[in-house]
Amino acid sequence: MRRPVIAGNWKMYKTLAETRAFFEAFKPLVVGTKKCDIVIAPPFTALAAAVEAAKGSSIAIAAQDAYWECEGAFTGEISMGMLLETGCRAVILGHSERRQYFGETDATVNRKLRAAVAAGLQPIVCVGERLEEREAGKTEEVLERQFSGGMAALTDAEFSRILIAYEPVWAIGTGRTATPEIAEEAQRFIRRLGAKKFGADGAATCRILYGGSVKPENIRGLMAQEDIDGALVGGASLDPRAFSEIVNY
Ligand code: 13P
Repeated sequence: MRRPVIAGNWKMYKTLAETRAFFEAFKPLVVGTKKCDIVIAPPFTALAAAVEAAKGSSIAIAAQDAYWECEGAFTGEISMGMLLETGCRAVILGHSERRQYFGETDATVNRKLRAAVAAGLQPIVCVGERLEEREAGKTEEVLERQFSGGMAALTDAEFSRILIAYEPVWAIGTGRTATPEIAEEAQRFIRRLGAKKFGADGAATCRILYGGSVKPENIRGLMAQEDIDGALVGGASLDPRAFSEIVNY
């Protein structure tokens, strides 16, 4: 039985004051929630404030990216160790917006993933096809390339501990959610890739989240699918009430 994970990716939203106000409103709404892990990924500047504000709850704080080197002359970058120091426990890697706007590749995702695992952070690795790739019938090819390029060199044990987020790019921020069936088909395929490379046991325990226009209205249908173990939520995670409804699906 895989424990569900509901994660919020705040992207480039929320100041320190907005972060504190969010937690003040959100914590009481999820206080009795036992059925899933809750993760929130604020921007770097709000990580420490979010860790502080989440104290006394089971909410884990994640970063949205990090660099693979421990330290050095890498202006603008943040290391895994620096994240750990804030009290952060997880890190999103390879988000499609990083791939699209900031030159992230499967090779850089792979280096970051290995650094995150070595540092003891829980990686949330994003994969997903663009609209033109889906329309050209290339979804599985893209997922296979991202999977083998991004997850290469993990051990079986490491693979079983990472989180994967399937985020079809055409469903992100568009209001156009993948149907539960479309998401399930892709996620079943990803699990099969995991089984082929890391063995059936590792693939059976690896949690695969769906992301792309997840809302309180569609979370139940998604979570009813066999291979959907949670959600990575963008826009709807900014609102304490909407996000609590997703967490308490
Ligand atoms: P939306 O939920 O806003 O579509 O964003 C999804 C996403 O990119 C989460 O990482």
